[in-house]
Amino acid sequence: MGDATPASGPDLRQGVPLADIPPEGVFAGQVDGEPVLLAWVDGRMHAVSGRCSHYGAPLAEGLRRGDVIHCPWHHACFRLRDGAALKAPAFADLPCWQVEERDGLAYVRGRDDDAHPRPRARRGREDPERIAIVGAGAAGYAAAVQLRALGYAGAIDLFGADPEPPYDRPNLSKDYLAGTAPAEWIPLQGPDFYAEQGIRLHLGRAITALDQHWRQLTDAHGDKFGYERLLLAPGAVPNRLPLPGFDAANVCVLRSLADADALLARIAHARRVVLVGAGFIGLEAAAALRARGLAVEVVAPEPLPLGGVLGEVLARDLLRRHREHGVAFHLGRKPQAFDGGALVLDDGSRLDCDALLLGVGVKPDLALARAAGLAVEDGIVVDATLQTSVPGIYAAGDAARFPYRGQPARVEHWVHAQRQGQVAAANLLGAGQAFTDPPFFWTHHYGTDLRYLGLGRGFDRVEVDGDPAADDCLVRYFRGDTLLAAAAIGRDRALLELEPALRG
Ligand SMILES: Cc1cc2nc3c(=O)[nH]c(=O)nc-3n(C[C@H](O)[C@H](O)[C@H](O)COP(=O)(O)OP(=O)(O)OC[C@H]3O[C@@H](n4cnc5c(N)ncnc54)[C@H](O)[C@@H]3O)c2cc1C
Ligand code: FES
Repeated sequence: MGDATPASGPDLRQGVPLADIPPEGVFAGQVDGEPVLLAWVDGRMHAVSGRCSHYGAPLAEGLRRGDVIHCPWHHACFRLRDGAALKAPAFADLPCWQVEERDGLAYVRGRDDDAHPRPRARRGREDPERIAIVGAGAAGYAAAVQLRALGYAGAIDLFGADPEPPYDRPNLSKDYLAGTAPAEWIPLQGPDFYAEQGIRLHLGRAITALDQHWRQLTDAHGDKFGYERLLLAPGAVPNRLPLPGFDAANVCVLRSLADADALLARIAHARRVVLVGAGFIGLEAAAALRARGLAVEVVAPEPLPLGGVLGEVLARDLLRRHREHGVAFHLGRKPQAFDGGALVLDDGSRLDCDALLLGVGVKPDLALARAAGLAVEDGIVVDATLQTSVPGIYAAGDAARFPYRGQPARVEHWVHAQRQGQVAAANLLGAGQAFTDPPFFWTHHYGTDLRYLGLGRGFDRVEVDGDPAADDCLVRYFRGDTLLAAAAIGRDRALLELEPALRG
């Protein structure tokens, strides 16, 4: 995940020469031990926090484009003029400071808490009176928050089948599973946030029917809720394997907080865990369980974990990291049966274990959309504005099949789902904005973060610059001469620079 970097650089209260502040970059210093960035915007000097409000990344290591600073870790965007959080995964604005220019120096003075312009309530427009959002995960949460950030004053109903308020799902296979993230880090907001924002959270309420004609939702208890416009953000459900013994209580999956807690309860006194599947979640879980001192074995049919996504060089490097940390791999092997205490593989070998964790992919949750008659293929079909086949109903996140660079795509990434939620929110209010952000994900293994931008499916050439083993590389994926995607370890700014080339 990375550690929030401590403040460094000159004390900006003492003044720094205006000439030292780059006209199109940022200047990093500190104020009272806080990292602060100075930046020229439209001929005026501004000072904003240098610590990302998401996980605390040093924004000075990010990329400035126009009036916007892009975070190096998970690519949140902030306006330098007033610190406004513009794009997920950060939702809190950056603190700002007052700056005085005197005798060729810039002095940072007190905090400027008036810098953030509050959204004015939208009046006299044709906003809907009531917006419903089905799914209180990444996309649904981001959409609800964005509606208020845009000044929407009508009713927002956010329905979640999960009993928990929106939480940091990516953390479940990382620090939370490793035991290094306390439970209070997991919710995305404090308990009062939703009431303060006027977002009605309906938790533990699965919506089971959608009547698009009468614009009505029905939940599992038969309660009905009207809406004027609707966002579907139901996410995905983890696959299980129809194999003998795979319905045992110690066969776990990892999608929800409840899944993570059930897994943690299972392994509380365990010594050995077998993971079936060597995808991102399986391998992150392997790293987290090794951090707990458990013996971990991974079974997967492919010859190289994630080779099809990352290419051979990065995949081999990932495999090396896991092996060096004591994970045993059974590659090219399939599971056949589980007897509660041992997994039997297709070569007859038996792997003893106290618990089995399945990381064998997910299926988009399409039941509601399909039953309601929306166009559905391997996802809920949406156009560039994320509108479904039914006007007024939008879809976002893991369940949405959207156009990306001329091809239909469905992407299962956190930031991507949140960004789609944010664009869907604008479009629920009539913005008609196309979603063009390139897919982005990050993954964390033994203190190293790999970040990936674009969609590399069908790549036929990989260019590796640098050395993954030294935590310093940029890998680019091409089909012919077309750049499809890029991955980076330790080269965050270079990855951010490729973003325009990978937009939809
Ligand atoms: C353990 C784990 C680690 C991950 N790590 C990363 C990572 O490091 N980087 C990354 O980019 N991505 C990561 N992901 C993927 C990322 O979390 C997902 O892509 C993202 O959460 C998708 O957002 P979503 O809103 O589409 O769905 P979700 O976040 O799954 O939210 C959908 C919600 O809708 C609810 N729901 C479904 N149907 C209904 C209904 N009918 N009525 C009411 N509620 C309903 C579900 O209960 C769920 O809470 C990870 C995923 C997991 C499980
Ligand atoms: S730390 Fe900046 S986006 Fe995550």
